Amino acid sequence: MDGQTTSEKAILKLDGQEVELPVITGSEGEKGIDISTLRKTSGYITLDPGYVNTGMTRSSICFINGEEGILRYRGYPIEQLAANSNFVETSYLLIHGELPNPEEYERFRQSLRHHSMIHEDMRHFYEGFPSSAHPMAILSAMVLGLSTFYTENDDPEQDDNIDLTVCRLLSKVRTLAAFSFKKSIGQPFVYPDNSLSYCGNFLHMMFRVPAEPYHVDPEVERALNLLLILHADHEQNCSTATVRMAGSAMTNLYACIAAGITALWGSRHGGANQAVLEQLAIIHENDGDVSRFVKLAKDKNSSVRLMGFGHRVYKNYDPRAKIIKEACDRLLDHLGVQDPLLEIARKLEEVALNDSYFIDRNLYPNVDFYSGIMYRAIGIPNDMFTVMFALGRLPGWIAHWTEMRQDPDDRIHRPRQIYTGARLRDYPV
Ligand code: CMC
Repeated sequence: MDGQTTSEKAILKLDGQEVELPVITGSEGEKGIDISTLRKTSGYITLDPGYVNTGMTRSSICFINGEEGILRYRGYPIEQLAANSNFVETSYLLIHGELPNPEEYERFRQSLRHHSMIHEDMRHFYEGFPSSAHPMAILSAMVLGLSTFYTENDDPEQDDNIDLTVCRLLSKVRTLAAFSFKKSIGQPFVYPDNSLSYCGNFLHMMFRVPAEPYHVDPEVERALNLLLILHADHEQNCSTATVRMAGSAMTNLYACIAAGITALWGSRHGGANQAVLEQLAIIHENDGDVSRFVKLAKDKNSSVRLMGFGHRVYKNYDPRAKIIKEACDRLLDHLGVQDPLLEIARKLEEVALNDSYFIDRNLYPNVDFYSGIMYRAIGIPNDMFTVMFALGRLPGWIAHWTEMRQDPDDRIHRPRQIYTGARLRDYPV
């Protein structure tokens, strides 16, 4: 792992004292001040709500330059992976650090195929959930449930076959996600067909019904591969940081992923893809009047935000949104779908990109802005969008958990605070 200490030093003046802090440089030249000894040497901590300026780790998995709109997995530009790779290969790359050679790729694929089924007893868990349950709640509960069947990772330090745990997770989460969908629409579960590809098998479990044949459309399979690749990692985002936070306590991988899923569910994070479509539908129901909605999103007295716009890191067009926008046109053309919500999305984007409120704050469409329209065209309902995000983000979460396990600096994550509550007082007797 890179992240070299340089000869440069930061000097902090506190109480007439000078504290010297090392400066760290990453492999792409980004700089950070190492404050790990600050409290010990000065008694001070740093305060950074939302961790806007805080680097929680060194990592070699994903590089983002938010100002220039750059995203790379293990050094490979997202545009090249989107054009040439598939989700299984990209998952291998993220988790193992290098693209697989043909034998490694085949072994990995084979293992994913082999672990596609869930324990039959787990099928009965679904009977206990109301059919109105949000599939993210079911997914998180079911992934945690995996840890009750596969206990080899209970103590991550003793798990000498982590590759098995990883393949089980990658393969079974796909089955759990498809079963959640079937549960929500009252259809029987469809077992995996291991003659199909990773994405083909998922589509088969989602859309096949016992009464009719189902053929995987290669264009839909390609679109799904692309969407999953684009979501596969995004360095220290809220859910990945959650996976790391839980993992730092030596929690098993299944439980950490379940925690990541709950963090992803929120509308400021992965839940935004569902919220985008809900907003577009509201605009559609209100005569497609985009400007009224934009006005509301700019009004500081309203809580409305333009969902699918803005990003903590990107202060430029999200490179994933660019790729999705093109793929969305291609997919809808292929399927012959005319979606009025796509028209509204395009209008909304145009209005927002020319509005000084959004220009001044560098608010551009993010990955969630067009992805929902693609999922909708494939036949995936709104409340499953965030589940799709989770399926895509899974290899990233696993890669970060694994990297943390191998990091010599790994220790429990335990932030500090500035206490602002009542001072010492006596309990009334
Ligand atoms: N619509 C209207 N105003 C916005 C929006 C928006 N979508 N996003 C940010 N702003 C304004 C915000 O009100 C603030 O204005 P001011 O400086 O006048 O107070 C300014 O822009 C900076 O916003 P912030 O909340 O300080 O930015 P943040 O980095 O804390 O939040 C964000 C980032 C993604 C949570 C936020 O932009 C947002 O809520 N966007 C909508 C939800 C969304 O699309 N989320 C998906 C993110 S990408 C995928 C993922 O990470 O899961």
